[in-house]
Amino acid sequence: MKEQQIFSLYKKFIIPCYKQYPLVMAKGKGVNVWSLKGKKYLDFFPGWAVSGLGHCSPKVVAAIREQSKILLHVSNNYYNKLQGKLAEKLSRFSFGGKCFFCNSGAEANEAAIKLARLYGKKEQRYQIISMKNSFHGRTLATLTLTGQKKVKEGFSPLPEGFKIVPFNNLKAIQNAITKKTVAIFLEPIQGEGGINIAKKDYLLSLRRLCDKRKILLVFDEVQTGMGRTGRFFCYQNFGVLPDVITLAKTLGGGFPIAALIAKKEIADLMLPGTHASTFGGSPLACSAALAVLKTIEKEHLLENTKKMGKYLLKKLEDLKKKYPFIKEIRGLGLMLGVELKIPCQEIVEKALKNGLLINCTQKNVLRIMPPLIVTKKEIDKAIDILDKSLKSL
Ligand SMILES: Cc1ncc(COP(=O)(O)O)c(C=O)c1O
Repeated sequence: MKEQQIFSLYKKFIIPCYKQYPLVMAKGKGVNVWSLKGKKYLDFFPGWAVSGLGHCSPKVVAAIREQSKILLHVSNNYYNKLQGKLAEKLSRFSFGGKCFFCNSGAEANEAAIKLARLYGKKEQRYQIISMKNSFHGRTLATLTLTGQKKVKEGFSPLPEGFKIVPFNNLKAIQNAITKKTVAIFLEPIQGEGGINIAKKDYLLSLRRLCDKRKILLVFDEVQTGMGRTGRFFCYQNFGVLPDVITLAKTLGGGFPIAALIAKKEIADLMLPGTHASTFGGSPLACSAALAVLKTIEKEHLLENTKKMGKYLLKKLEDLKKKYPFIKEIRGLGLMLGVELKIPCQEIVEKALKNGLLINCTQKNVLRIMPPLIVTKKEIDKAIDILDKSLKSL
């Protein structure tokens, strides 16, 4: 099938809710993807961080292939071994909590919102505080939780019980808390918001505040989790324990699976009938996620992420010295942002033409998140392409 035929299928039959480049992607391997026309791209924003171990990670592919011969799906009215094993691992890697499995970041956050409401039910506490510039998903509740106007436009009336405050501002939270407050949601590093890192002191103070007021501290680790920042979970960089975390993206290495992990005593509020997901935690999805966990451990990808993250940061700092319109480089591990004094979409398009996939968020922040398997050689190549793209502005 030719590119033009695919475009025309989309035009006729796909609901146009995505901005799209006129480009059909056909296959991927490691840090590279190839278009239908056979052009090779270095993917430094692989599927919005979903393909965090690179495209078609061999162990994930093998696990899916093997499991697909045994059992694809079974309802959650029965037990399945792989779901149990995956939950045990995630619990052990985090803070010893219990898991609920679903299929997307928004669903995991939706589950966390419902869990918070259950937690506050007795005292009729329901209000949730979240952060300006945050992103938590596109369902009605998670877009209300999201601190960005553009995702809410046209969808009123929105659910009640949500309040948004500036990020990294303790005073603002203290002022926003009422007798009705039940949870505080935040991303330890805001991704869509422009790679904004939470301050350690701020998180420590939030933890103390939440303990004092019996408020749940929920970290959305949909983007920052699964090794992206050089630790298994981003919160481990700060030494601040949340009560609940949500995960998705890299968890399945390309296969849809998401999770909520909650401290045991809170998790046990979700009794039969309170929440469910038909597809959540299927044997096939769990086999993919178990292979992701194994690969991160066996291939020492946390170490690689730390090492390559530092290398990439240094290379980006070098570019900053060369181009005065680069304002700041920030991030942790392989979750990096390049803030510009000018809009960045044109740069993304030039990089694409030159064979590099990156992202532009908040109009002026280049978001660079290569797979955790990235090598120095691939970083050098990406930096050359970025340099060439910046030069041609
Ligand atoms: C931090 C964060 N939370 C939630 C979501 C929503 O995830 P999904 O698109 O899988 O629903 C995203 C997606 O980009 C995200 O970055």
